[in-house]
Amino acid sequence: MSEFWSWWIILITVVNVLGCWALLYWTRRVKGSVGENETTGHVYDGIEEYNNPLPKWWLNMFNICLVFSVAYLILYPGLGNFAGVLGWSQTNQHTEEVTEAKKTYAPLFEKYALIPLQQLSKMKQATEMGKRIFVNTCFGCHGSDARGNPGYPDLTDNDWLYGGSPTNIESSIINGRNGVMPAFEAALNAEQLDNVVQYVGQLSGNKVDIAKATDGKMVFEQHCFACHGNDGKGNIALGAPNLTDSNWLYGGSSTIIAKTIREGRMGAMPAHLDILGKERAHLVAAYVYSLSNRQ
Ligand code: HEC
Ligand code: HEC
Repeated sequence: MSEFWSWWIILITVVNVLGCWALLYWTRRVKGSVGENETTGHVYDGIEEYNNPLPKWWLNMFNICLVFSVAYLILYPGLGNFAGVLGWSQTNQHTEEVTEAKKTYAPLFEKYALIPLQQLSKMKQATEMGKRIFVNTCFGCHGSDARGNPGYPDLTDNDWLYGGSPTNIESSIINGRNGVMPAFEAALNAEQLDNVVQYVGQLSGNKVDIAKATDGKMVFEQHCFACHGNDGKGNIALGAPNLTDSNWLYGGSSTIIAKTIREGRMGAMPAHLDILGKERAHLVAAYVYSLSNRQ
């Protein structure tokens, strides 16, 4: 802050504090200084307002506030560039707290970092720390209970886009994932699209038009095999979902399936290495692993 603005703020603050005090002094009514039943002259609905002195405790509260504000402005930053006698600052406090937390948690993080995920997922303290990281970092997308939202996978159901092994989960978190389901609007005509929607419905046991589904199978073999597999069970290397179960990332109604195929989908899980660091990613991975591998 430049010298000018610093003095500007000091001036305004000091004038205000003094102003409050002056106002208090000026408007105060000492008992006896006004007549017993004197009114302020305000009338509302025939009700008049007596001009009584403020109760003492009330007046004293104002005085205490004023003394407090002066003490505060001397001890803490508040007057322009003046740093306060105590030298307190938000940055210092934050740094101190972070250093303190690091001292407490660093040995724990280090210890947990060496424990394999499967074993770690059974340790209560570790999964609780993982859960806190999850609630802070992941809940916006996956929900605070990790059950996901349309487009954001449920992490509790043991149905994995990219695999549920400890390595798979940790890699999803650390490196992120990008699902690419191409748009088929241009490649398929309306009939082919309708048929393949019926076929996808059939794969997961929906009631469908059998004749259309049979034709749709051919479309599927030609266009979708490569990623979803010839049995429709998906491919974890590409994050192509299993289409034969009733777990849907985007939804299993024919309208939504048709939209997915027509327009494509691009689910993106951001890489969290830089956000969390390896050790915290390991802990949150243990928590995620524990969700679908309950003992
Ligand atoms: C290049 C690989 C690729 C091809 C080819 C492909 N898909 Fe996909 N598909 C994916 C991926 C990856 C996803 C997941 C998208 C995401 O994570 O956002 C997906 C998602 C889907 C979904 C959504 C599933 C859900 O749970 O909501 C449907 C339905 C689907 N594909 C059907 C098809 C059909 C039908 C075809 C052929 C016409 C096809 N896909 C071709 C890779 C592919
Ligand atoms: C910005 C939203 C977002 C945030 C934040 C996010 N995720 Fe994800 N995550 C996704 C999406 C979207 C996918 C699915 C990617 C796809 O469709 O291919 C995903 C996929 C995953 C997967 C793979 C699931 C599977 O079925 O294979 C795991 C594991 C995961 N996330 C864990 C986490 C954890 C742990 C955090 C917090 C540290 C987190 N995610 C934060 C959006 C997010």
